[in-house]
Amino acid sequence: MAIAKRPSTEMGQRLFEYAAAPEATDHLKIADSYALFVGGRFVEPHSRRRFATVNPATEETLSEVAEADETDVDRAVTAAADAFRSWSRLSGAKRARYIFRLSRLMQERARELAVLETMDGGKPIKESRDVDVPLAAAHFFYYAGWADKLEWAFPNRRPRPLGVAAQVIPWNFPLLMLAWKIAPALAAGNTVVLKPAETTPLSALAFADICQQADLPPGVVNIVTGAGSTGAAVVGHPGVRKVAFTGSTEVGKQIQRATAGSGKHLTLELGGKAANIVFEDAPLDQAIEGIVNGIYFNQGHVCCAGSRLLVQESIVEPLLAKLKSRLGTLRVGDPLDKNTDVGAINSRAQLEKIEGLVNSGIEEGAEIYQPECHLPERGYWFRPTIFTNVAQSYRIAREEIFGPVLSVLTFRTPDEAVEKANNTPYGLSAGVWTDKGSRILWLVERMRAGVVWANTFNRFDPTSPFGGYKESGFGREGGLHGLAAYVELN
Ligand code: NAI
Ligand code: MG
Repeated sequence: MAIAKRPSTEMGQRLFEYAAAPEATDHLKIADSYALFVGGRFVEPHSRRRFATVNPATEETLSEVAEADETDVDRAVTAAADAFRSWSRLSGAKRARYIFRLSRLMQERARELAVLETMDGGKPIKESRDVDVPLAAAHFFYYAGWADKLEWAFPNRRPRPLGVAAQVIPWNFPLLMLAWKIAPALAAGNTVVLKPAETTPLSALAFADICQQADLPPGVVNIVTGAGSTGAAVVGHPGVRKVAFTGSTEVGKQIQRATAGSGKHLTLELGGKAANIVFEDAPLDQAIEGIVNGIYFNQGHVCCAGSRLLVQESIVEPLLAKLKSRLGTLRVGDPLDKNTDVGAINSRAQLEKIEGLVNSGIEEGAEIYQPECHLPERGYWFRPTIFTNVAQSYRIAREEIFGPVLSVLTFRTPDEAVEKANNTPYGLSAGVWTDKGSRILWLVERMRAGVVWANTFNRFDPTSPFGGYKESGFGREGGLHGLAAYVELN
């Protein structure tokens, strides 16, 4: 009997007919409106203003959130300054108990937090469930362990907390960025005022509830919601001793200007345009998975995304063929479906930014590839996209797109790979795929990037420092380096 030969994509579709597997949401209670979390209580905003946060997959309003004005921010900083007096004097072991408790409560409420994160921000539930929430809890767990060992962390340097930390975070990893900011600050004895991003405030407000549940002393953590002007008020408050920001390079520069000469300690984690470099001796199938993870994870809303693929010329054809066929198997759509690989774009504004940059790529002469996929009618969506025929001067090769868009460039020699990889104003991360350990070490020495992943991508661990060079910012988060940003040393 003759076996009919089918093209592989058709075969793939036939073999993998998925049934929707939606995550339940009935265990989750989202209030119609939220107040500010100041001094351990939810308080009505002085501003009397609120704004909506929507589900980007449905465009439905999830809740109305308070918009903090300068008076609200002043109250929050005052509460944090009051709490600092006792929190900073508490023994490290006692602080650790609170922080361990926060970590355990996050684990206990993991499902609720994951669903909330996915509904408010659009990321696939399998990512919030398997990456964001567990890593956030792990950060608290890790830094809780340091709280009573600061003298060992910084031997003979008499580590002292700084005071009130102002922390402004973005919308791509809301709960995880909260953990990166709050956990080391509390472990070192500081108190915090945190402002979540305006499109994703709900997981931070759930965390405020967790602080109450943990009986955290009032004022140690304060959460003020709002947009850029609220963020500017938090950062600019004279009672603040330390500013930590993650977000766009543009706002990072504004904050650096605003804090210059104020004596405030500052760390900035900004944008990126990472090179993911594939040599001809790389294990190709593994590399394909790394490329896909590098740029389509979290819809490409990742500061360290591998958005520039540098491929050695000799393997560009087989690699692109494999990559395109792999793209055809990515499931784009309902973020609450456990099968979904690529969820919703976080906001209409971000979708418009992605569309604008993609159009510039087409106009400048790059060749676009997008797989067939059915997108939901409502919500903000963008197909996984590959650009080939990209010159280094094109905007899609230089600017952070922050969407599921990959620009492919080629190189012939290792030197050319290094030169092209470093030809960017950013310097946050990079990836290298090769069979040779010696080549990895050679390359890593020459890369201007805070993190270089070898034969993997987007791996995170609380013990490992993360941060950038050049326009990607300065300072490190994670590990002992992350703790050092929250202490004064002799
Ligand atoms: P953004 O930098 O404006 O927002 C990040 C946070 O900063 C938010 O909480 C926002 O409310 C706050 N903020 C805004 N203006 C502020 C100010 N003057 N002072 C203090 N805080 C302020 O980022 P946006 O506009 O949401 O995204 C624009 C682009 O920025 C994205 O397309 C992406 O390229 C990049 N971005 C990079 C991120 C990263 O992790 N590297 C995260 C978010 C955005
Ligand atoms: Mg939202």
